[in-house]
Amino acid sequence: MARRTHAAPRKKHEARRKRRRPTQAERADKHDLYQRAVQSPDFDVAFFARAFTNLRGRAPRRLREDFCGTALLAATWAASKRTRSAVGVDLHAPTLAWGREHNLAALPPAVRRRVALVHGDVLDARTAPPADIVCAMNFSFCVFHDRATLRRYFENARRNLVRDGILILEIYGGTEAIDELEESRRCDGFTYVWDQDRFDPITNRTVCHIHFRFPDRSKIERAFTYDWRLWSIPELREVLAEAGFASSVVYWEAVDEDGDGTGVFRRTEHEEQQESYLAYVVGLK
Ligand SMILES: C[S@@+](CC[C@H](N)C(=O)[O-])C[C@H]1O[C@@H](n2cnc3c(N)ncnc32)[C@H](O)[C@@H]1O
Repeated sequence: MARRTHAAPRKKHEARRKRRRPTQAERADKHDLYQRAVQSPDFDVAFFARAFTNLRGRAPRRLREDFCGTALLAATWAASKRTRSAVGVDLHAPTLAWGREHNLAALPPAVRRRVALVHGDVLDARTAPPADIVCAMNFSFCVFHDRATLRRYFENARRNLVRDGILILEIYGGTEAIDELEESRRCDGFTYVWDQDRFDPITNRTVCHIHFRFPDRSKIERAFTYDWRLWSIPELREVLAEAGFASSVVYWEAVDEDGDGTGVFRRTEHEEQQESYLAYVVGLK
């Protein structure tokens, strides 16, 4: 008779099975990667305060961040001074929820009380009290493909501003902006890839993607996709005027001798074309 033991013989496949470690892509959070690769909220807050004070001769207090996504900028604005408050507006409830959980929850309670998030459409969302500054960062307003809708957006932004309020629009352009190309940049622990997939010269429609790649060769392809109309600076200024803004100014990013952006933006009316540029078009109510 065979001798019995307590230990049942292990099945072969159980002995061999090794739990697969999740890849870096599987462990990553795309909103966290986006914030780290793309956003510079401290820089934006300093620029907004400086530009508003120069243009209006007083300090700004209230910011409305349109297309706020995770509301990192709104949170950073409110945290930067006790006199500052912010409201963020976005259509996408899950992204707002991520922002509440990660960016707002990290704030001290007194600061958190100065930030509100609104789930709504920037074309008609009304927020009170009116803001000193409304901003649309990272080209978000390019989601509007026709002039009538862009004008409607600018009209609603204007409605949500105080009497001497300003609308700040971040735009990109240059000779390479209409090329199909992929550009990558190393970040801490991953590579950020900007993919200009398509550009239609008849409509100025461009489709772009963000991909993230990792040292273990895993990747998140098309983490974000944008279907945009690439607006030019003169078009934006014309539509601002049509929407009732009294005037507009342009801040242009200075480049170094290698043509790389310096992060310093200067007010200007004429510039030489570049391969790529970043600029702020500012509408004054
Ligand atoms: C490019 S992300 C901007 C994220 C962040 N604010 C930034 O500056 O990087 C665009 C955001 O706009 C939102 N969005 C698109 N159309 C919108 C609309 N009509 N009203 C409100 N939000 C909108 C999307 O849900 C998305 O979160």
